[in-house]
Amino acid sequence: MKEGGLRKIVAANWKMYKTRGEAEKTASELRVSMTEETAGGRRVVIFPSFTNIAAVAGVFAGHPSVSVGAQNFYPAVEGAFTGETSLNMLRDLGATWALTGHSERRHILGETDELVARKTAFALQEGFSVMLCIGETLAQREAGELDKVLSRQTESALAALPPDSLGRLAIAYEPVWAIGTGKVAGPTEALEAHAAVRALVLKLLGDAGRSVPILYGGSVKPDNAATLLELDNVDGLLVGGASLNSQSFLQIVNA
Ligand code: PGA
Repeated sequence: MKEGGLRKIVAANWKMYKTRGEAEKTASELRVSMTEETAGGRRVVIFPSFTNIAAVAGVFAGHPSVSVGAQNFYPAVEGAFTGETSLNMLRDLGATWALTGHSERRHILGETDELVARKTAFALQEGFSVMLCIGETLAQREAGELDKVLSRQTESALAALPPDSLGRLAIAYEPVWAIGTGKVAGPTEALEAHAAVRALVLKLLGDAGRSVPILYGGSVKPDNAATLLELDNVDGLLVGGASLNSQSFLQIVNA
């Protein structure tokens, strides 16, 4: 941990991969190596599919530094929302974290800033920890709109934070052009974007914004993880593809 830095978080987003048996196998392989010591001071969060949350949470039950989260949920306590899943149901399976604003949900499933804001506030209010994802597309970056996009996404999502919820908020900066493409943001790009997000969070939340972890995501691999983790304002990593394999994810957790 950098002096004065936040406790790093390394998160695995398993997306729509793995049957229950496969998820349990990967989780068990991770569990064997993730003693308190190898996970270091780092916190690990695993986001499996809904159908695998109970199995993965079972494997890590009682682990001091590994938590399980939901990739999605509907922001209502319960009701006539066919096909949707509530946070109470997910909590019951062992999830304590929730992802909001992931670029695949924004760009493929059509989630708007307004819905992302509602989900973020709702999950925090329900006592979940939330990893809010933000990030620009290549077209937006090339049009010089990086700052504009990051401020729009961050300001709208954090506009109505419930009281006493800041300690449960993390932000993941994930440039859309780097997700699943093998094109990781270079250190300069990551530094610049993370500094912009930190400045935004400080503007919106005051000094308390210093303690909000900002993770980098987008083609994180065992060979670039250490470099990214050393950058200022990079308080962790959100890993997709390279988290599906236990060995590569462990290398990233221990990078
Ligand atoms: P990737 O995905 O690591 O496969 O680029 C990251 C993410 O979508 O969170």
